[in-house]
Amino acid sequence: MIYTVPDFQNPAGVTLSFARRKQLIALANCHGLIVLEDTPFRHIRFSGQNLPTLQSLDTEGRVIHLGSFSTVLVPGLRIGWAVAAPALLSRLGLLRVAAGTQTSTLQRAAASLFLDHHDLTAHIAPLQTAYARKQEAILDAIRQHFPQKITVTDP
Ligand SMILES: Cc1ncc(COP(=O)(O)O)c(C=O)c1O
Repeated sequence: MIYTVPDFQNPAGVTLSFARRKQLIALANCHGLIVLEDTPFRHIRFSGQNLPTLQSLDTEGRVIHLGSFSTVLVPGLRIGWAVAAPALLSRLGLLRVAAGTQTSTLQRAAASLFLDHHDLTAHIAPLQTAYARKQEAILDAIRQHFPQKITVTDP
């Protein structure tokens, strides 16, 4: 299995280029590997354009795409989602039960209720603006102490 954080990898913030995304899928196909695509930060991009997900480049149903509500709903909620081929998802569900790390039922009910009554995509847009403002505040503070050392590029 290949585990990867292709968007804003933690802690370096590196984003996998389109060419390397295609190479990674080709590698997985060649070796018959499952790819676990972890994207907790993808949805809060506040500048530039998202690159295609690995899952969208996958033609063999071997990518499991993960997202986290911790970054878009409530920090530290520790509830996420998985998108995968049905055969993979059912096996993942069994592993989840076997691992015995049950997330709080109350938190899952709250997240589920939110999704029933709100548009998650509309909810995310103002978050991107808020994160951009926070980035500027952090960069301003760092620049005051290290004026020459800061370069920010859009991945
Ligand atoms: C690589 C990675 N995956 C996933 C997550 C999200 O974890 P959780 O949904 O448990 O908060 C984080 C949070 O920082 C992370 O750094």
